[in-house]
Amino acid sequence: MTDTLNADPPRRIRSFVLRQGRITASQKNALENLWPRYGLDPAAAFDPAAVFGRRAPLTLEIGFGNGESLAAMAQSLPAEDFIGAEVHPPGIGHLLIELERRGLDNVRVFRVDAVELLENCIPEGALARILVFFPDPWHKQRHKKRRLVSPAFARLAASRLAPGGVFHAATDWEDYAMQMLEVLNGCETLVNQAPDGRFSERPAYRSPTKFEQRGRRLGHGVWDLVYRRS
Ligand SMILES: C[S@@+](CC[C@H](N)C(=O)[O-])C[C@H]1O[C@@H](n2cnc3c(N)ncnc32)[C@H](O)[C@@H]1O
Repeated sequence: MTDTLNADPPRRIRSFVLRQGRITASQKNALENLWPRYGLDPAAAFDPAAVFGRRAPLTLEIGFGNGESLAAMAQSLPAEDFIGAEVHPPGIGHLLIELERRGLDNVRVFRVDAVELLENCIPEGALARILVFFPDPWHKQRHKKRRLVSPAFARLAASRLAPGGVFHAATDWEDYAMQMLEVLNGCETLVNQAPDGRFSERPAYRSPTKFEQRGRRLGHGVWDLVYRRS
């Protein structure tokens, strides 16, 4: 008989697969030398006021890729603070280089699965915005279970937003856009901000990301989904 009490918990299906991507010497150097300045430990308690030395609206970007859009947003909104969660080392290295180049001090970085970060490290109601730009579409039918935006994820993300806080996702994959619309419209603590309860115009703070530009070159459309925590 299986000992269910002592059995390992079921392994979570993750929204990413870690690949040994090519990393440049400067990205490697940044991971070694700039991490102490910008990196945060997801196993430690996270106190935004202590980290940033002030209380300001706090945005989390999940899966920031190369971080160009996160750095641009943080530079354009100096009165706000930003945290990014990513698992791909070359992208993290790229962002660290950008943060130093732009002289930004209102961004910190977690190298972690964002689901674990939300579950274990971010207090309820702590965030003004959660951004998920062009998450991996997992377009094959057998891979769709890996998609980040699920009903459980929507409930978890909404719980970390302050009342009135914004959840904003964007994708260039129509089938995922429709799935997100159904999932997010079905989350009872999120209110769709589009007048017709569907897709929104791109808000000014979202500059085009690397994956968005790639999608456009391939002829894809872009769908933005903007919600507020009720
Ligand atoms: C398709 S890329 C998009 C990157 C960027 N947002 C853009 O638009 O250029 C998706 C990114 O999300 C990251 N990612 C996927 N699941 C994640 C998770 N659970 N936690 C943190 N990052 C994740 C991947 O490593 C990848 O860099």
